[in-house]
Amino acid sequence: MLISAILLLGLLSSSVATVIEFPALNCRKHSAVLTDFGGVGDGKTSNTEAFKAAIANLSQLAADGGAQLVVPPGKWLTGSFNLTSHFTLFIHKDAIILGAQDETEWPLVPVLPSYGRGRDAPGGRFSSLIFGTNLTDVIITGNNGTIDGQGAYWWKKFKGGELNETRPYLIEIMYSNQVQISNLTLINSPSWNVHPIYSSDIIIQYLTIIAPVDSPNTDGIDPDSCTNTRIEDSFVVSGDDCIAVKSGWDQYGIQFNMPTKHLVIKRFTCISPDSATIALGSEMSGGIEDVRAENIIAINTQSSVRIKTAVGRGGYVKDIYVRNMTLSTMKYVFWMTGSYTQHPDPGFDPKALPIIKGINYKDIVATNVTYSARLDGIKNDPFTDICISNVDIKLTEKPKKLQWNCTDIQGVTNRVTPAACSLLPEKEIDCTFPEDRLPIEDVELKTCSISGNF
Ligand SMILES: *[C@@H]1O[C@H](CO)[C@@H](O)[C@H](O)[C@H]1NC(C)=O
Ligand SMILES: *[C@@H]1O[C@H](CO)[C@@H](O)[C@H](O)[C@H]1NC(C)=O
Ligand SMILES: *[C@@H]1O[C@H](CO)[C@@H](O)[C@H](O)[C@H]1NC(C)=O
Ligand SMILES: *[C@@H]1O[C@H](CO)[C@@H](O)[C@H](O)[C@H]1NC(C)=O
Ligand SMILES: *[C@@H]1O[C@H](CO)[C@@H](O)[C@H](O)[C@H]1NC(C)=O
Ligand SMILES: *[C@@H]1O[C@H](CO)[C@@H](O)[C@H](O)[C@H]1NC(C)=O
Ligand SMILES: *[C@@H]1O[C@H](CO)[C@@H](O)[C@H](O)[C@H]1NC(C)=O
Ligand SMILES: *[C@@H]1O[C@H](CO)[C@@H](O)[C@H](O)[C@H]1NC(C)=O
Ligand SMILES: *[C@@H]1O[C@H](CO)[C@@H](O)[C@H](O)[C@H]1NC(C)=O
Repeated sequence: MLISAILLLGLLSSSVATVIEFPALNCRKHSAVLTDFGGVGDGKTSNTEAFKAAIANLSQLAADGGAQLVVPPGKWLTGSFNLTSHFTLFIHKDAIILGAQDETEWPLVPVLPSYGRGRDAPGGRFSSLIFGTNLTDVIITGNNGTIDGQGAYWWKKFKGGELNETRPYLIEIMYSNQVQISNLTLINSPSWNVHPIYSSDIIIQYLTIIAPVDSPNTDGIDPDSCTNTRIEDSFVVSGDDCIAVKSGWDQYGIQFNMPTKHLVIKRFTCISPDSATIALGSEMSGGIEDVRAENIIAINTQSSVRIKTAVGRGGYVKDIYVRNMTLSTMKYVFWMTGSYTQHPDPGFDPKALPIIKGINYKDIVATNVTYSARLDGIKNDPFTDICISNVDIKLTEKPKKLQWNCTDIQGVTNRVTPAACSLLPEKEIDCTFPEDRLPIEDVELKTCSISGNF
């Protein structure tokens, strides 16, 4: 009796699968594991064909409740692969996807129409490691699984001028809607980490993004010509901007004309000694509007929010709202640059002046700061309607004399220490932050699950 009960228990525990629950935009009817398609998790065998076969197979189920592909514990070397619609890629916490260091594993894709050329070089672009285009309802998630771009190979080639094409990103999702990227650790991207472009209804949460602080262009998250994006509860330490909001480059971006708008950033932490916590631009030629950022922490970072633009960009940055930033060890708290003179080619229009207006920053505490603000507008094209209130900046031991260096800007300040420049006179005002919520903030995730023997 006792013995058979023990036997039964033993049998149950070996056959009962582990169930992992996770939040997602949509749950899937079908589920498969990478090993079903020949995947080998030894860190040496290429899994590019296994990923392609799995996703090609599961894409047939898009209209029948969709499918999820589980990347189980192991080290899964792979080149680029493409996602499909109504699909979830779930990366287990003990799984590492490793980016291949063989360039033939990364197909070339055309340059982005709003950029006119690759960002690194005039030629094409290596496809991102995980790429998706023209999709609906696509999810990349896990319970803190890892994607390791093994970027050192690419950083070395880039620094040595040995690449004729633009380095790949880790994740790029293009012309898509209903996108979720969550609960992952992304390390050592060859270049940008997460690049949603020409897309809408995007939720990015619980990402840990790590790259050496001296690695080139390892931006954290780059929403680019996207509408309705929510970025929250994430941490980035990298060699470039932790978040870079973009919308195309000079004449190509003006022509493509697709802004980034309705972007919410909440509970976000950044470490980036040579770059910004949140950059707006420099590629902003399609326009950037209605950005709401709050509860932001930055440590040992060059600046908090930085607006980067130049003559030739055209476009606009307007209706920007930021509140509650806690900053320590910063070169600049506030930085605006009107002379970010990188151009795609000499064909830019010198009469295309950017419009920068309606910039609102409030409730900011900063310590160990070198310069409070460097605010450079453009001659004959001032940045206007700037409002900065309730800001307490404590300076480094040896602070610079000119704390607020302002040119070609217009606006007001209130309760700001040290006192601002004369171009931002004091006025009894509490700067605006919108009272309403954006629809993307109220999207609720469902509880979905995977099960298996891991
Ligand atoms: C792929 O999908 C088909 C159904 O279209 C199925 O019969 C087949 O078993 C699948 N292949 C694998 C390796 O799971
Ligand atoms: C992914 O799709 C794009 C666009 O259709 C294509 O150019 C690229 O070669 C595909 N990548 C892979 C790895 O199949
Ligand atoms: C993807 O969508 C864009 C924009 O609608 C369109 O121009 C392009 O042809 C589509 N590509 C594919 C492969 O369907
Ligand atoms: C995602 O991350 C959050 C924050 O760490 C955590 O509370 C949640 O349980 C994670 N989800 C999964 C599926 O691991
Ligand atoms: C996820 O993994 C990273 C890297 O190991 C770690 O730093 C981070 O704390 C983990 N996050 C969670 C929620 O466990
Ligand atoms: C880059 O292009 C130049 C000029 O066409 C060529 O000489 C060189 O071999 C190319 N380098 C690579 C890595 O393809
Ligand atoms: C401000 O942000 C910090 C950390 O980001 C958070 O702990 C605090 O609750 C926030 N304060 C308000 C009033 O939201
Ligand atoms: C203050 O900032 C300086 C750089 O300006 C840095 O070297 C120093 O470690 C920081 N001090 C503290 C206490 O963080
Ligand atoms: C103030 O900013 C201007 C650029 O607009 C720069 O040329 C100048 O050196 C700065 N002055 C100081 C004292 O930092």
